[in-house]
Amino acid sequence: MTASLSDALVFFGATGDLAYKQIFPALQAMIKRSHLDLPIIGVARSGRNLDEFRNRARDSLEKHGGLDAVAFARLAARLQYIGGDYRDSATYEQLCRALGNAARPLHYLAIPPSMFEPVTQGLARSACARNGRVIVEKPFGRSLASAQALNRTLHACFPEDAIFRIDHYLGKEAVENLLYFRFSNTFLEPVWHHGYVASVQITMAEQFGVQGRGAFYEEVGAIRDVVQNHMLQVMALLTMEVPMDGGPDAIRDEKLRVLSSMRPLSPNEIVRGQFCGYRDVTGVPPDSQVETFAALRLHIDNPRWAGVPFYIRAGKRLPITCTEVTIELKPPSPAVFDANGPGQSNYFRFRLSPDVVTTIGTRTKVPGEPMVGAATALVARHYPRDEMTPYERLLGDALRGDAALFTRGDTVEAAWRVVDPILGDAVPVFEYEPDTWGPPAAGRILAGDDRWHNPTSEEVLP
Ligand code: BG6
Repeated sequence: MTASLSDALVFFGATGDLAYKQIFPALQAMIKRSHLDLPIIGVARSGRNLDEFRNRARDSLEKHGGLDAVAFARLAARLQYIGGDYRDSATYEQLCRALGNAARPLHYLAIPPSMFEPVTQGLARSACARNGRVIVEKPFGRSLASAQALNRTLHACFPEDAIFRIDHYLGKEAVENLLYFRFSNTFLEPVWHHGYVASVQITMAEQFGVQGRGAFYEEVGAIRDVVQNHMLQVMALLTMEVPMDGGPDAIRDEKLRVLSSMRPLSPNEIVRGQFCGYRDVTGVPPDSQVETFAALRLHIDNPRWAGVPFYIRAGKRLPITCTEVTIELKPPSPAVFDANGPGQSNYFRFRLSPDVVTTIGTRTKVPGEPMVGAATALVARHYPRDEMTPYERLLGDALRGDAALFTRGDTVEAAWRVVDPILGDAVPVFEYEPDTWGPPAAGRILAGDDRWHNPTSEEVLP
């Protein structure tokens, strides 16, 4: 089942938000690159007709990424629409008829998780799932137990190698580069362990709030929304052992191993925050305890990372929108010239978004008689050209059956095991002012002399 091309694309939730913002733009982009020539069947509960569905696709493209008249005409010609109840077998009978002779359909479940079960069962009962593949969107469960239940539901209808769990972070060029950079540069491996690494910080800061998604956000909060998935995936790429090869299984096996070595969080290693004003958002109750910010300290109990603190911060309404990773090295020992002090260590910094910058922080001598130095950043800036969006990339990979950038079921469960003990109200939530770096209490989880590194809008930091 690995390498054959899917010959039909079905997406459930075809009139929903995800289809509107991500799927139609990805489909148009794929058509523009001319690697999409198959029937595209939208399934939704709302009773529209095909013309209305095409109009919605057009509208989506006008608002998200821009309409390309030629590519849109080709997309519109491939679109089909089925309106029906997801629990009604008639919906799947219609779908099977629309699929005709398709031998390997790809079913994209762009629907709320509560609908996964009826839809996968409907597909399985009607034989539309035969030889098929399925894409599911995060959240993959709300806890370890619910993720296990979700995996059971999916596995009842599809084998694991036909399940493609989208974590769009893995479709980002800058995130793939982390993996490439790590294992393609000889100078890195000798220092990439607790002997030289003092600490690692990953910050995912967003200046905006919950963008009208109050009711959705109430169900998740920052830990479920971005930490359990995006942040832990980035951390796994940074910390995994050298894979046997570059193939999807070897990489995902190593990710699983390192996620399984992460110590489940304890309440004194997390601080939750909520920005002032969050409770005024439509869909948010006035006494909400849901976090819009989380700062965590993690540990990996394996020989490579023993004793190294890993700090993750993620939050809404912070001073800047930026995702950045900083790996700080220990100071030289002994200190021959400058006395070692805060901010003087070497570091590697990967800015993943909005711009893509790799920085190596060094010390160089200041001209003059004394042997004193200053921080000098060696900077590689990446200028994106005609890059695919994560959704275009991932949809294309799933159609080809290439699972490398998708999250495997066991890895999802391993990540839930890390955050499971601190979900919900396990620790209190502190208010913070918008445009600040979260509640001051976040400093509490820093060990020793460690300090937060706050990304700035300067592209290059000293
Ligand atoms: C999504 C979260 O998965 O990722 C959002 O649900 C978040 O809350 C988004 O804003 C961030 O992704 P990106 O690619 O825009 O940085």
